[in-house]
Amino acid sequence: MITIAKNRFYTGNTTSLFSAEVAKHVRQFHTRIENYQPTPLVSLSMLAKKLGVKAIVIKDESHRFGLKAYKALGGSYALGQILADRLNIDIRDLDINTVAAKLETPLIFITATAGNHGIGVAWAAQKMGQKAIIYMPKGSPIANAERVRELGSECFITDDNYDDTVRLANNIAQKNHWILIQDTAWEGYHDIPTWICQGYLTMADEAVEQMALLDLDTPTHVMLQAGVGSMAGSMLEYLVDKLGPESFQSIITEPSVANCIFRSGTSAHGDRVNVSENIDTIMTGMACEVPRVLDTIMTGLACDEPNPDTWPILKQCSNYFAHADDSVSAVGMRVLGNPLIGDTQVISGASGAITLGLLYQLCQDSRYLDSREQLGLNQDAVILLFNTEGDTNPSGYRDIVWNGS
Ligand SMILES: Cc1ncc(COP(=O)(O)O)c(C=O)c1O
Repeated sequence: MITIAKNRFYTGNTTSLFSAEVAKHVRQFHTRIENYQPTPLVSLSMLAKKLGVKAIVIKDESHRFGLKAYKALGGSYALGQILADRLNIDIRDLDINTVAAKLETPLIFITATAGNHGIGVAWAAQKMGQKAIIYMPKGSPIANAERVRELGSECFITDDNYDDTVRLANNIAQKNHWILIQDTAWEGYHDIPTWICQGYLTMADEAVEQMALLDLDTPTHVMLQAGVGSMAGSMLEYLVDKLGPESFQSIITEPSVANCIFRSGTSAHGDRVNVSENIDTIMTGMACEVPRVLDTIMTGLACDEPNPDTWPILKQCSNYFAHADDSVSAVGMRVLGNPLIGDTQVISGASGAITLGLLYQLCQDSRYLDSREQLGLNQDAVILLFNTEGDTNPSGYRDIVWNGS
């Protein structure tokens, strides 16, 4: 099941936090990390033909730094900024390989996360000779905790939910004068989440360059998945700045049970507000909360409140808000993992595949014909997607792709 709504708040206005100019510096930082390589941009030309569009290109972040997800781009850039700050130098002058030797003792970073972000922070801390401590909420996959430990960080799985685990990490950070590295903002906590979001821009910057190298037209459609909307907001601002606000249609997609961006974006006029019994918020067009029942296979997107710093970008620059249930993402995983002859296989986890699942359903299912037409998903459409994770949970991946769960 898919729900899609036009954004009535669209203005095309951006901030200047995630501009193409900022992306240049961010990418320059990432290229200095050992083994940095742009992730592939895969053109699924057979699938495009089958779905009746001109091109489908997917940026495959399952190859990012050997970590199977894009998240380390954010954690590493934030750590770089903090270290540069400590040494009183510009991040452009930070030598990742020798920075540890310039500090008397390593800095200690702490974060609360169910998976990809924590793995990214642990990896970045290891690369830069620093220390990271990762707290995971109850129910987090043991495999993720093990990956964090393999990267040299301590990892604890708490008895609390995600929000309480963030509070716990924050308290521990304050008590010990450690540095909290969280991928969403709140009152009084802005710089670090901004650096994390800026870190994601390398992915968009590579994609735009790779499209030109593949001799593809610039995208007519960009589909981005969202949890709190940090990634989608920063990437969208970059793309609007680089390509122009009117040059493409953007569609922000979430799991239906965690559709806080959709709810926020469709709220002010009261149309398409899907208020559940747990919501007593007056819908105002401001960021709002969704119920705490976030049971979805898209664990990376299971978020209940938009990032207040990137929400304004999504509010002003997205063209459409959408949400889809788990089966849509599962279809996306299966289509990407079992390509048509001539197309490249893309291994995509549930949070990575939701946009392809959405596109596939829109183009294949006659119930969505009107939406398809409204969106202009026709023979001229060049669609850019981001596979934000691979099989970060291999047994969960097989359950869905092999066993049809
Ligand atoms: C694989 C994956 N994709 C997308 C996202 C969405 O990111 P955000 O919470 O910034 O919207 C996440 C967040 O952790 C993720 O792990």
